[in-house]
Amino acid sequence: MKVLVVGSGGREHAMAWKLAQSPKVQQVYVAPGNGGTGKDKNLVNVPITDAVALREWALDHGIGLTLVGPEAPLAGGIVDDFRAHGLRIFGPTKAAAQLESSKAFSKAFMHRHGIPTAAFETFTDAAMAHAYVERLGAPIVVKADGLAAGKGVVVAMTLAQAHEAIDFMLLDNTLGVAHNAGGARVVIEEFLQGEEASFMVLCDGKNVAALATSQDHKRLLDGDEGPNTGGMGAYSPAPVVTAEVHARAMREVILPTIRGMDKDGINYTGFLYAGLMIDPLGRIKTLEFNCRMGDPETQPILMRLKSDFLDVLLAATAQGLDTFELEWDRRVALGVVMAAANYPLPPRTGDAITGLPKDQDDAMVFHAGTAEQAGQIVSAGGRVLCVTALADSVKQAQQKAYQTASSIAFDGFQMRRDIGFRAIKT
Ligand code: AMP
Ligand code: GLY
Repeated sequence: MKVLVVGSGGREHAMAWKLAQSPKVQQVYVAPGNGGTGKDKNLVNVPITDAVALREWALDHGIGLTLVGPEAPLAGGIVDDFRAHGLRIFGPTKAAAQLESSKAFSKAFMHRHGIPTAAFETFTDAAMAHAYVERLGAPIVVKADGLAAGKGVVVAMTLAQAHEAIDFMLLDNTLGVAHNAGGARVVIEEFLQGEEASFMVLCDGKNVAALATSQDHKRLLDGDEGPNTGGMGAYSPAPVVTAEVHARAMREVILPTIRGMDKDGINYTGFLYAGLMIDPLGRIKTLEFNCRMGDPETQPILMRLKSDFLDVLLAATAQGLDTFELEWDRRVALGVVMAAANYPLPPRTGDAITGLPKDQDDAMVFHAGTAEQAGQIVSAGGRVLCVTALADSVKQAQQKAYQTASSIAFDGFQMRRDIGFRAIKT
């Protein structure tokens, strides 16, 4: 079977790398891919980003299965379109993808279906939003409604930060959020404390299969300081997700979400990612939904997947997940992101990347914002690489990931030095 992975990030590199290991896969194409998927001899980049042109290309090339990595094409309806043309594709429809593409939609959805989440209000009017945060006080969280690549959230520790966030989200849009119909909106919500985990499942429209657990590091700087990013590193499994928390997440969040979508007339297929906040008593609140796998969580998760990824996706596109057992490597995988200078603001690009090591079974450099220029790999985006290693403990996986990263350099790169710290007992 020929398969197509849509996207160009580290997540898509990991997906394509894993799919290429399946003996049933004849060729893996990545559209548009990046410098890393381009130089991998098992993968072929397809320089198409327009969804309609890609569908025509998939029809012409006999693509048997398409897997979509990022949210933007899902929110744009690529799944609806491919299916309407008889193509097999794994992901949520445009209607289902609203769980991610609109914070206002997902918060109202959670409220309606009794899914635990932070108390919130939605605003289009800046004056009313300012008055609301004055009334509630800080800390408080301000979220742009619309896709913002994980950057449209400000956890305001002071009222001044909250007011500033409201102005730049509602008035200036300096983050370049893709607004939903009706223009700029913000969701303002209660600040939650606890430890976060990324809880991801596959849904085939009827059955749900949980993926291995993971934890992301959303802040730019060590010790969870600095601005929110798309994610600076991740590891799997996440010890904060105990068996009890796992059961609770399925019972209180995942299953009511799938059932709630069904009740609202939307059949959910695809990955579903619930960002959870877990308090010290093991109680859960949902921070957000994503309608895709996480980036960088996918990189460590797929390094631990022992099942044939093509078989997983074939089961997931044939309502066969009820009889499918996912197998995981017992070891820990940990991925460290190397980001470009200035990220999460518009990054500096075009810097030569040196010292890239050879791929190994237990140490992989997944590319994200990279491109090839005259035989040289250069930076081409905010998050540039995710160096991911597999070892017997979090500490060892951390050491191996940082050791692998130590040979790599490009001008001005940013890298956290503490990925996995919450799982390492000192
Ligand atoms: P989101 O995209 O909604 O998951 O928000 C991005 C990040 O902001 C989350 O991973 C949290 O670290 C933080 N965050 C979001 N909502 C809250 C909240 N209500 N309380 C505390 N932190 C939050
Ligand atoms: N790493 C967080 C996300 O993919 O949304």
